[in-house]
Amino acid sequence: MKPQNPPKTYRVKSFGCQMNVYDGERMAELLGAKGIAPAPEGEEADLVVLNTCHIREKAAEKVYSDIGRLKKPDGSKPIIAVAGCVAQAEGEEIMARAPAVSMVVGPQAYHRLPEMLDKAVAGERATDTDMPAIAKFDSLPQRRKRSPTAFLTVQEGCDKFCTYCVVPYTRGAEISRPYSDLIDEARKLIEAGAREITLLGQNVNAWGGEDDAGRAIGLAGLIRALARLDGLERIRYTTSHPNDMEDDLIAAHGEVDKLMPYLHLPVQSGNDRVLKAMNRAHTAESYLRLLERFRDARPDIALSGDFIVGFPGETEAEFKDTLQLVDEVRYAQAFSFKYSPRPGTPAAMMDDQIDRQVMDDRLQRLQARLNRDQFAFNRASEGRTCTVLVERKGKRPGQWLGKSPWLQSVWFEADCQIGDMVEVELVEAGPNSIRGALNQPVTV
Ligand code: SAH
Ligand code: SF4
Ligand code: F3S
Repeated sequence: MKPQNPPKTYRVKSFGCQMNVYDGERMAELLGAKGIAPAPEGEEADLVVLNTCHIREKAAEKVYSDIGRLKKPDGSKPIIAVAGCVAQAEGEEIMARAPAVSMVVGPQAYHRLPEMLDKAVAGERATDTDMPAIAKFDSLPQRRKRSPTAFLTVQEGCDKFCTYCVVPYTRGAEISRPYSDLIDEARKLIEAGAREITLLGQNVNAWGGEDDAGRAIGLAGLIRALARLDGLERIRYTTSHPNDMEDDLIAAHGEVDKLMPYLHLPVQSGNDRVLKAMNRAHTAESYLRLLERFRDARPDIALSGDFIVGFPGETEAEFKDTLQLVDEVRYAQAFSFKYSPRPGTPAAMMDDQIDRQVMDDRLQRLQARLNRDQFAFNRASEGRTCTVLVERKGKRPGQWLGKSPWLQSVWFEADCQIGDMVEVELVEAGPNSIRGALNQPVTV
């Protein structure tokens, strides 16, 4: 590769889950600390970081087509870095298949991006897919993000090895970031304007640590400590695993006002044979009982989940068990996917891979019910008054958008600013958002 001019501008494009978005923000901060500026809207950057996701097929293919399409106005290629989970899983393949790529950096190694960039400028290609985990966080610059809502990664990696999933291979073993680091980072985010923090982890409720007094605490203990920070109004967390649920986290939903009434708890399937083949290590019944306990602690809690249809060998009757579970839970929101065989995972080698058409049909039927329930949940909130955190301007002048405590998108007209907490009556529910009417500002 030829030596290249040092980049003046950068753009980070994130394609994955919220943790991938968080990583993207941290990479942007690293590049900013090196004196590189974010590229203006609509202008191609000198350095593009493709922060990829490997969870389903199309995501990986998209990386190659994006690499092909990247061009600066003079026709030359920007400096390209591929980061994220595809980089981790297919680093060597990317280097071989895409000569325009200068850097490949995995999700646990991106703190080394600045050094790699120096090499790229000197004309050397570099790959780093080491997994030193905590070392990464220690060598990142301070948070700079200015926004009323912020992500905070508290836990990374996964030891669950669901048979369909690449995450244990791309993100490595489960680790928890230390308590004091998290409190410090939360303080920085609050100083920069965050009023809501979402704690992130592939298995966020597996977080464990020691508080300042040396007591062992779990996620609930961390949430209780964060709730004591002035200026922070709302706490959320995602994604939880049914098998790591501690009693105290359920209790916290009834006790900590700043903890929002929302739980994302993926189940994947409502059939026990399929759950076993997925290596989920819980049953449909144990999952339902767990949700009951959350509802007992916080009756208005909005429930959310993830589903996979067409796992190898899934029969029509087994799929119907998933529909049945959905009918029982009545989710406020949910995400559903067609099974995608991932290279290197046990399920990709299983017999009885399901026809694409069968998967399409099942996904449609499942989504029809999930949409029905989401709309019903929204309609049931009509007439309620709640606090909305104002996140951005709406399309029309004077219109604002924000989230209800139940994570519904609410829009309304008011004289307010981004970051305000306003009291809004939920007036008219749609399938995906709710029109509200301002009651009165509560805090400024
Ligand atoms: N750690 C989280 C989420 C991981 S990925 C959890 O276990 O809940 C987010 C979602 O992607 C999963 O919940 C699952 O529904 C979906 N997913 C993961 N691997 C998949 C695959 N191979 N095909 C289709 N969907 C998949
Ligand atoms: Fe993947 Fe399962 Fe781990 Fe979630 S718990 S990240 S689905 S292996
Ligand atoms: Fe995708 Fe990696 Fe997240 S595979 S879903 S970016 S952990």
